[in-house]
Amino acid sequence: MYSEKVMDHFTHPRNVGEIENPDGVGEVGNAKCGDIMRMYLKIEGDVIEDVKFKTFGCGSAIASSSMATELIKGKTIEEAMALTNKAVAEALDGLPPVKMHCSVLAEQAIKSALLDYSKKHNVVIPGLEDLNFDDEDHHDLIEND
Ligand code: FES
Repeated sequence: MYSEKVMDHFTHPRNVGEIENPDGVGEVGNAKCGDIMRMYLKIEGDVIEDVKFKTFGCGSAIASSSMATELIKGKTIEEAMALTNKAVAEALDGLPPVKMHCSVLAEQAIKSALLDYSKKHNVVIPGLEDLNFDDEDHHDLIEND
């Protein structure tokens, strides 16, 4: 049911933890399963120098956050903004359909942390304006997959 990559990132998650004095922190949750993901960013110029996460959730959410941190570390803000949940799932060699929403949390946690960064540092990040992370039910995104 789960790919080797999912199992690897679930059992040996990369970039777990917190960043002291982060430039941006984002937390998102899924109202239906109750899982919560928190993402910390260290940003220099427009490059994500470091990223760490804490996920209180299922194995797919942990694997998704681990993979997502690997995919954006050392990348630009623009590249991080372009990371979709589908790309995270593909990098994990797929997730079962009922677990796709776990990868949505990873995408949203990154964007939520970037939103926090943009507010704190007065930086405009194109693409963030329309996002509303106060909406607890993210399932509308999933059903589009
Ligand atoms: Fe909800 Fe995985 S079951 S995040």
